Amino acid sequence: MSDEGQTGLESEHNNPRHIAIIMDGNGRWAQKRFMPRAMGHQSGVKAVREIVEYCAQQDIEVLTLFAFSSENWRRPQEEVSLLMNLFMGTLQREIEKLKNNNIRLRFIGDRSAFSESLQNMMAEGEALTRNNTALTLIIAVNYGGQWDLCQAFRKITEKILAGELSKEDINEQLINRYLSTAGLPEPDLFIRTGGEQRVSNFLLWQLAYTEMYFTDTLWPDFDRESLEDAIKSFKGRQRRFGHTGEQVLSRSVKFNF
Ligand code: IPE
Ligand code: IPE
Ligand code: MG
Repeated sequence: MSDEGQTGLESEHNNPRHIAIIMDGNGRWAQKRFMPRAMGHQSGVKAVREIVEYCAQQDIEVLTLFAFSSENWRRPQEEVSLLMNLFMGTLQREIEKLKNNNIRLRFIGDRSAFSESLQNMMAEGEALTRNNTALTLIIAVNYGGQWDLCQAFRKITEKILAGELSKEDINEQLINRYLSTAGLPEPDLFIRTGGEQRVSNFLLWQLAYTEMYFTDTLWPDFDRESLEDAIKSFKGRQRRFGHTGEQVLSRSVKFNF
């Protein structure tokens, strides 16, 4: 790197390949405006559109958005139904646009809890965009990091019982292959909007070495400039993966994730 003032830390990585976001603060955004929480969720969809568009333009490979957690069923019934309807309506409206913009759509989470029509629409959205090659957009719905690990362990156990795997085969790579994020790069950058600093059962295993970024900005206000700030913060960090800073600077170490 020939840039004056370049410490070497910034140059270690460029854009994150995979950004994972907990989109939080819709309810408070609405409450601040004396509006029903529903309005916050609706405005949240607009923010999703802007962020997806931005990531596609910036050649981000994967964007994972936490839309509904396995714990969000605990909300009042009206809010849960509203979120389901909003989800279904948005999908219906946006699928064609995703298809035409070369965005590959995928869902992670336990779909069995959803209505048949919603499950069909999700499968259709995935099928229609399967061969797209720009951004992979992952929507986490009825997702929980603990659920993801449980479903992986269940499948691995089945294989062991069937004699197709042995317990010695269990290692980090194998578990990765059974998680719902199999085949995707690990998230490089985690963002949580809305001021809370917790993981709320999002990607637990996958966040092992992810850079964390928390902002007070409420999700409906999170725009491309806000994302640029987060990416700038990411680019200024030195990722060590257990090595020393000196090792990283001397570039004697090749990271493999
Ligand atoms: C995030 O916003 C959206 C979902 C969890 C579906 P919230 O609805 O959690 O907003 P706050 O945290 O109440 O402000
Ligand atoms: C996390 O937000 C889940 C989503 C954004 C979908 P919550 O608002 O549900 O998280 P907690 O319950 O405050 O931790
Ligand atoms: Mg919240």
